[in-house]
Amino acid sequence: MTKPTVIAPPDGRLGVLTPGMGAVATTFISGVLAARRGYGEPIGSLTQRAHIRLGKRTEGRRPLVRDFVPLATLDQLEFGGWDAFSDDAYAAAMKARVLEPGHVEAIGDELRAITPMTAVFSNRWVKNLPGVDHLKDGGTHMDMAEALMEDIDRFRAEKKVDRLVAVWCGSTEAYEDASPVHLDLDGFERGLKGNDPAISPSQIYAYACLRMGVPYANGAPNLSVDIPAMVELAARERVPIAGKDFKTGQTLMKTIIAPGLKARMLGINGWFSTNILGNRDGEVLDDPDSFRSKEVSKLGVLEHILQPDLYPDLYGDIYHKVRINYYPPKGDDKESWDNIDIFGWLGYPMQIKVDFQCKDSILAAPIVLDLALFMDLAARAGRSGVQEWLSFYFKSPQTAPGLTPENDLFVQLSKLYNNLRHMMGEDLITHLGTEYYDGV
Ligand SMILES: NC(=O)c1ccc[n+]([C@@H]2O[C@H](COP(=O)([O-])OP(=O)(O)OC[C@H]3O[C@@H](n4cnc5c(N)ncnc54)[C@H](O)[C@@H]3O)[C@@H](O)[C@H]2O)c1
Repeated sequence: MTKPTVIAPPDGRLGVLTPGMGAVATTFISGVLAARRGYGEPIGSLTQRAHIRLGKRTEGRRPLVRDFVPLATLDQLEFGGWDAFSDDAYAAAMKARVLEPGHVEAIGDELRAITPMTAVFSNRWVKNLPGVDHLKDGGTHMDMAEALMEDIDRFRAEKKVDRLVAVWCGSTEAYEDASPVHLDLDGFERGLKGNDPAISPSQIYAYACLRMGVPYANGAPNLSVDIPAMVELAARERVPIAGKDFKTGQTLMKTIIAPGLKARMLGINGWFSTNILGNRDGEVLDDPDSFRSKEVSKLGVLEHILQPDLYPDLYGDIYHKVRINYYPPKGDDKESWDNIDIFGWLGYPMQIKVDFQCKDSILAAPIVLDLALFMDLAARAGRSGVQEWLSFYFKSPQTAPGLTPENDLFVQLSKLYNNLRHMMGEDLITHLGTEYYDGV
């Protein structure tokens, strides 16, 4: 056993701030409120439902994760955020049409009281969002960041919260690589004052949150905290950061199936993935620049799991294609098809077809909850900077510079559990297993 980490207790109230209060954020908030009132179960949430094995298999110690590590409870959560539309959480949840109207109505009083703060927004970064009307007045990027910091202060005081975390649930911004302004904090702050066009709104939110000591997780594929300037700021302020892009529908499937095929040393020639979805996220992703951010995030996973450099004959020549098609009749009920061309013994070809009829935000909501609770845990445990142990939740996990991200869902899960064991001073589980047999 190692010495347990000193973790401050989760006393008081935890404010969860979501920049972006659309389908994912309102499904998350509604689900927590419903669970609190006993109207529904937080299914899909590891913090609420999973057990963790401790010690040897023979010991039978398998507590719930939430009983093992000191997490804030659902009753301690307070919700807030920003959006470019003025709809309160009730109206936004009704418009998103993820949950049945009756479900939303049942917690309507609480949802109506959650109103978004005005957004820092730019059409240059999100094109397909017409009619936005709930924006901060002009000024430099730095003025915007300061206005966000004031929002955070006000929220903290009005809602009497003891700690805060932020999870970006805003639209996917246009793809752009890091530019010189992102390379260090001094340059970034000069860029904020000088309105550098390479700084996106999500980076302004991230900057404001980190300056206020608020842990920040990024649920979309845009860079946000995945730039050296933000890593530097997180280190200076000793705040945890994590990203990027919630791992929900098709990529969840991909990171379940690909490690299995690779474990059996089956080859892959091609993987064609297409999606149809009709929610606002789908509309935003209909713009090629926003789609490009998503495409990069979705394409990376296979490369990292399959290691074509080590297995060129099995995975060196994969045709990997990802498509997202905006199709309004589907709403939030995304359908994703995968056609996987594989080959086995003597090169004989086979095919796998996956038709996943999912509900995007139903899969994303428990991720927002788990990230909020684990980021708060990380902060109370004195962890700061990139929280790679939370890779489990992301399509494109942020890592230390130069480190290959871990995309295999099962490796990510054991990394997460071992981190929890380590924090609590329990033995890490290696699955060696020799201790159960005589004479070894
Ligand atoms: N649903 C999923 O399964 C899933 C999976 C991975 C990632 N994501 C990402 O999560 C994000 C949210 O998805 P969603 O389905 O809730 O989308 P949505 O369109 O329903 O909600 C996004 C909200 O963000 C707001 N917004 C956009 N820019 C903003 C800004 N600068 N400041 C404040 N608000 C802003 C929009 O007005 C909108 O209400 C998207 O980026 C999406 O790509 C979703």
